[in-house]
Amino acid sequence: MIVLGIESSCDDTSAAVIRDGVLLSNVLAGQDVHRLYGGVIPELASRAHQQNIIPVTHRALAAAGLQPRDIDVIAFTRGPGLMGSLLVGASFAKGLSLATGAPLVDVNHLHGHILSHFIDLPGKALPHPAFPFLCLLASGGHSQLIIARSFVDFEIIGQTIDDAAGEAFDKCAKVMGLPYPGGPVIDRLAAAGNPQAFRFAHPRAGGLDYSFSGLKTSFLYFLRDQTAQHPGFIAQHTNDLCASLQYTIIEILMRNLVKAAEQTGIREIAVAGGVSANSGLRRRLSEEGAARNWNVYLPELRFTTDNAAMIAITGYCLFKAGRRTALDVAPAARMD
Ligand code: KG4
Ligand code: ZN
Repeated sequence: MIVLGIESSCDDTSAAVIRDGVLLSNVLAGQDVHRLYGGVIPELASRAHQQNIIPVTHRALAAAGLQPRDIDVIAFTRGPGLMGSLLVGASFAKGLSLATGAPLVDVNHLHGHILSHFIDLPGKALPHPAFPFLCLLASGGHSQLIIARSFVDFEIIGQTIDDAAGEAFDKCAKVMGLPYPGGPVIDRLAAAGNPQAFRFAHPRAGGLDYSFSGLKTSFLYFLRDQTAQHPGFIAQHTNDLCASLQYTIIEILMRNLVKAAEQTGIREIAVAGGVSANSGLRRRLSEEGAARNWNVYLPELRFTTDNAAMIAITGYCLFKAGRRTALDVAPAARMD
């Protein structure tokens, strides 16, 4: 079964082709225009998707050696995300479905991040977590702890009550004058810094929920106080600031993950979402996994941030479970 995946929920336009769960191509067009503004500008994102979606899909099909008529199923991101961006991908998927006769399957973007662990490569099966597994999903828009019981059965057992982990990286990077998106930049600079140099607030939200807005505020006030006394403070201490901030975010993420693993007794532990690209978090998970006898699943880096391969694999799983989506389905900026 050949599945074409389309992803356009935020600022990356992506198309991917999967045959029976094996990735044949995964093409992505990023949008540098947002760097000028230090964050994603929704109107510019939809315009760029509009420009990119056809060439990106052409390239994905060509790289897989296929024609549009070869597609068996078209999977697209229905939400959550930016409405204008989602509309481009959904409308394109519907048009292609009408033109080719291939059925549509709508995918929840977060579902896609979690099932990115089930993508295989040609001639190389990747490790797949066994059900039930715990997934820490940390991205620019979400921070959740999820029990995945099957390809279609998920329970959210903890989530952020304010900012997401990726948002904390991005907002704190902006305060330091670093470019958007801040997560990868902080990751790189943190490697040369001391994670114990500074201490910031570790907000608690209760239960297995997360909270990051207190950390952002504590970081902002700390920098404001320090620069009032030493104007060059940020430039002189960038690496240590990045390392300490990254350390704090990882501590917050790990505390509830450990708690969730203890409470549920689940030892199959996966991470997903853009923040799972973070080298410190990956290292910490591997160490914690070895100490606690967990089986830890770290997605390949290209499957951590937004991509259509994860949408295609999810569409494949959903289609096999009987999901069919009607042409009148509307994108949804928010989804349960
Ligand atoms: O999953 P994703 O591509 O988009 C959303 O669904 O939100 O995640 C993007 C987020 C951004 O906040 C970005 O800063 C963060 O993932 N991110 C990272 C790293 N790479 C991406 N955060 C920390 N370390 C990284 N290496
Ligand atoms: Zn995402």
